[in-house]
Amino acid sequence: MSVLEARDVSIAFNGFYAVRNVDFALHEGTIHAVIGPNGAGKTTLFNLLTKFLQPTGGSVYYRGQDITGEGPAAIARRGVVRSFQISAVFQGLTVRENIELALLRRSNLQWRLVGHARRNTDLVRRADEILAQFGFDREADTAAANLSYGRKRVLELATTIAMDPDVLLLDEPMAGLGREDIDRVAELILEAAQGRTVLLVEHNMQVVSRLAERITVMVRGEVLTEGSYDEVSKRPEVIAAYTGGGH
Ligand SMILES: Nc1ncnc2c1ncn2[C@@H]1O[C@H](COP(=O)(O)OP(=O)(O)OP(=O)(O)O)[C@@H](O)[C@H]1O
Ligand SMILES: [Mg+2]
Repeated sequence: MSVLEARDVSIAFNGFYAVRNVDFALHEGTIHAVIGPNGAGKTTLFNLLTKFLQPTGGSVYYRGQDITGEGPAAIARRGVVRSFQISAVFQGLTVRENIELALLRRSNLQWRLVGHARRNTDLVRRADEILAQFGFDREADTAAANLSYGRKRVLELATTIAMDPDVLLLDEPMAGLGREDIDRVAELILEAAQGRTVLLVEHNMQVVSRLAERITVMVRGEVLTEGSYDEVSKRPEVIAAYTGGGH
């Protein structure tokens, strides 16, 4: 069963095809990576799948339902959360407050239906769990603005997970992270992937080979090939695309 699917999808900007005739399916419960040289159309494909961009051709499906005509709010309500939506960590709030806010966003209605005392205990307990899981125990009361760049990215991921999405779309989660944070974030993505579907754009091939069971290679707006890491990394056309720069 595909959770998100693009069929023959294209988008042109002033006659330039950023994505052209792409067929792509994200299958339930998998970690799927989209790779390719700079400008290949990876982020544009993300934007098409999450309806931030309207395709000029083709159709987009969510669990078999045609959502081509829908906007980004509709897909977010269905439980698809993409990383740039949460990359706005609230700088003036503490780490704990950022996580509590994400928890509240998820369960707004649910919590409104139960009593106040219960709401607060549940919220605080769940926030404590997430703080511990992401190694923020000692930074819980630190303002997000005072975190290092790497820890801010980890906080972004924590708030994404706090929203408990069914489908998680991460556009270059490792960008700008140091070695230690990369290992930690990779571990957390693996944990977060339990019971979820994850789509990942990532340039770090070690991370891709470790996390992704399926890989789609894009070049110049088109899908070049798809398969496991071992399969695609050996294909001459993939090696050529990378060594040739893909432009
Ligand atoms: N809104 C836009 N208007 C005009 N051109 C665009 C727009 N968005 C993307 N493009 C172009 O489409 C192509 C694909 O861009 P995209 O951002 O999807 O690439 P990418 O694979 O994510 O690259 P990177 O690895 O550098 O993030 C690029 O040539 C880019 O300049
Ligand atoms: Mg991109």
